[in-house]
Amino acid sequence: PIPESEYKVKDLNLADFGRKEIELAEVEMPGLMASREEMGHKKPLAGAKVMGSLHMTIQTAVLIETLKELGADIRWCSCNIFSTQDHAASAVVAKGTASVFAWKAETLEEYWWCTNRALTWPDGSGPDIIVDDGGDATMLIHEGFKAEMAYEKDGTLPDPESTDNAEFKCVLTTIRDGLKTNPKRFRNMVDKMVGVSEETTTGVHRLIERARDGTLLFPAINVNDCVTKSKFDNVYGCRHSLPDGIMRATDVMLAGKTVMICGYGDVGKGSAHAMKAAGARCLVAEIDPICALQATMEGFQVARLEDVLSEVDIVITATGNKDIVLLKHMEKMKNNAIVGNIGHFDNEIDIAGLEAYDGIKKVEIKPQVHRWQFPDGHGIIMLAEGRLLNLGCATGHPSFVMSCSFTNQILAQVELWENRSSGKYENNVYILPKVLDEKVARLHLKHLNAKLTELSTDQAEYIGVNAIGPFKPETYRY
Ligand code: NAI
Repeated sequence: PIPESEYKVKDLNLADFGRKEIELAEVEMPGLMASREEMGHKKPLAGAKVMGSLHMTIQTAVLIETLKELGADIRWCSCNIFSTQDHAASAVVAKGTASVFAWKAETLEEYWWCTNRALTWPDGSGPDIIVDDGGDATMLIHEGFKAEMAYEKDGTLPDPESTDNAEFKCVLTTIRDGLKTNPKRFRNMVDKMVGVSEETTTGVHRLIERARDGTLLFPAINVNDCVTKSKFDNVYGCRHSLPDGIMRATDVMLAGKTVMICGYGDVGKGSAHAMKAAGARCLVAEIDPICALQATMEGFQVARLEDVLSEVDIVITATGNKDIVLLKHMEKMKNNAIVGNIGHFDNEIDIAGLEAYDGIKKVEIKPQVHRWQFPDGHGIIMLAEGRLLNLGCATGHPSFVMSCSFTNQILAQVELWENRSSGKYENNVYILPKVLDEKVARLHLKHLNAKLTELSTDQAEYIGVNAIGPFKPETYRY
């Protein structure tokens, strides 16, 4: 069993319920179960300390237990304050699989405490490999490393008051509080760090920026851009979990409503199609002419948010960018217009602007659903306080699509660990080879009773590919 000092979850009594749902999920996660069967006896992750910062859901529990079966020693936290499913966290702890620090509705301070605890093994050491989603664990290590260098140089301590960003204040406080007792903690962590595999678009952006600036401190595998991740999880996952989140939160009738989806990338595509399928009239906002043109070809009107404020009943952000829905927009929306975000971070919507608005009232309808009432009496309904609503107001993506994403995570973790001394990976961002992408897809076909057509050698020669794959050139866009 995991000692009590080495986990923090809401309530261990939820473990039985969690276990039952994990067992249902296992049947829907053929890629992960096949990984256990194929690699479990070889224990390719034996000796690896794996830290995860990724939504602590039932599906993630199946990922964690797969990593365990492959031999890893695991600590975990969630990558969002609202996304933990408490029964999943409890089941993982109760089985003794991993040290989990996560519960639904953490404060920001608690969130960073959890991340810090998940990064610290009982002997004080850090992880060898990280599974990151959005890059918060990676960010804490990089900021900690930077702060230790500054402290060593001239005794400067990080100053949480130097920033207005509530989140970053917590990061700096966490680092400052640890610095005096162990001024080499993050540097020691970086010294032995084998690498990180990153789950989502936003985390990959952060990694690519660091690699470009030459400040990335360890190798990274970009799992998001596996075709079997971003073209499935981001698209079909959101197609499932966006309406689920809106409906669980509000029970609103989607048919007949006018919905604006901001951003028509992978997440936006799934989101817009879900709204259309539910009978809503869907509008799209885009900055990229190619994505805008794609939206028009699917029958979505492309418009600017500011031009349609009086029409829209629901506005969803899916850009991974900041400052999309501003106070000046929300002020002008219809009474009880629903506003939510499905992108990784909450800065797509100006919650701070609402909070600072003179005379505004925030009424909690239920946890993660609030009505903000303007002084004139009209209001908007905000989902999950602007944080990703499919995980805040519902249970995120279903198991099957997460099996595709997480099978790529398993391959990435094994790849990093097996190459820990080969020199194959430098401090840069890599993607997995296409044959593995095809393998992940293959592992999921049988469950859906799909039968692949076999390519003959003659045909393979004719189209210039190997009969066993890869079947497409790197430039193919699917
Ligand atoms: P993407 O890069 O494919 O799409 C984002 C789109 O937003 C792009 O087409 C871009 O041109 C557009 N955009 C950027 N700024 C804009 C602006 N000011 N106005 C309108 N459009 C704008 O990224 P992807 O994969 O769709 O991810 C979007 C976000 O969702 C990321 O933060 C990602 O991490 C997150 N994500 C969330 C998931 C969830 O379950 N909630 C699942 C997967 C990704």
